[in-house]
Amino acid sequence: MVMAKYNLALLPGDGIGPEVMDATVKVLDALEAKTGISFKYKTYMIGDAEKKRSGTALPQETIDGVKAANACLFACVGETAKETILPLRQKLNLYVNLRPAKAYPGVPALKPETDLMIVRENTEGIYKMIGDRSPKSAFNVRVVTYEASYNIVKYAFEYAKANGKKKVTAVHKANVLDYTDGLFLEAARDVATEYPDYEYNELIVDAAAMRLVMYPESFEVVVTTNMFGDILSDVAAGLVGGLGMAPSGNVGEDICIFEPVHGSAPDIAGKGIANPSACILSAAMMLEWLKEKDAAEMVVAAVLKVLEEGKVKTPDLGGKNSTNEFAEAVAAAL
Ligand code: NAI
Ligand code: MG
Repeated sequence: MVMAKYNLALLPGDGIGPEVMDATVKVLDALEAKTGISFKYKTYMIGDAEKKRSGTALPQETIDGVKAANACLFACVGETAKETILPLRQKLNLYVNLRPAKAYPGVPALKPETDLMIVRENTEGIYKMIGDRSPKSAFNVRVVTYEASYNIVKYAFEYAKANGKKKVTAVHKANVLDYTDGLFLEAARDVATEYPDYEYNELIVDAAAMRLVMYPESFEVVVTTNMFGDILSDVAAGLVGGLGMAPSGNVGEDICIFEPVHGSAPDIAGKGIANPSACILSAAMMLEWLKEKDAAEMVVAAVLKVLEEGKVKTPDLGGKNSTNEFAEAVAAAL
């Protein structure tokens, strides 16, 4: 059997980024030993520290490295998020932001019944960074196109189809944002007619936020515009154990960047106590995207095993163990 070999671009970034990235590489190394899938890593600079060093938070070499790799894993940056991950998503047309929320055994969750996927449009909306300000007044422009809306909703239905889900909920604010979200809904309804076997419904974002907190089990796949997806996915993460557990992926046609949802966590950076689960689970999503389904499931199962046993836990989950000890436990559980 010929074993697959992947070139991975690693972007550790700032704060706890390098710590959770090292932990994740430890798990991938163990996976390599176990499965024969092989990884070649190349690390690239990104973020606040790089900006201080070279004057730019996102060097061209990093963009080229992401493009050239089979897949990319990004940890987190600090204040330069707007100058790094946002332009990467837009420049590389990573038009899908996948943000699952699922409760994990052994992790305290407000709503353990949560099991949903948020499919967030990742290239336009209010994050287009078009705007201006004078001393006492400012504006940002919200850009929505039929094409991007159609593509994101299509992705959501295809995701449902590939993952045994039956229901897609489009979240919007078309009652007020009639131009932009009106167009988004038009595209969503067009796509929905192509999937008559699936349940399609629509919710206004404020009602959706309430329903998400009260009845998370009523959602399967949620598809929405950029900022609503950003906010609702943190709400969903909060239902299932917080940012230390939340993975995500930025996906384009043939380029991807998988990343934990959390930021650089300056309050705990350098202490070696960050929970690497979000980054490790992001790597599992990356493996799935690479069509290494078995390997992806092995990684998720190993994380679940360690969490369920509850012997090795980072402080955010009420334990006393280090990032490294958790990673070693996951590697051993593989
Ligand atoms: P944050 O996600 O860095 O931290 C929020 C809280 O969650 C903190 O108390 C932190 O200790 C905790 N936390 C986060 N990840 C954790 C982990 N893996 N294990 C244990 N605890 C964890 O968000 P915050 O504090 O709002 O932002 C800090 C910096 O990160 C800012 O400069 C912000 O711009 C940046 N940021 C970057 C993002 C990215 O790189 N994609 C995303 C969000 C924020
Ligand atoms: Mg966010």
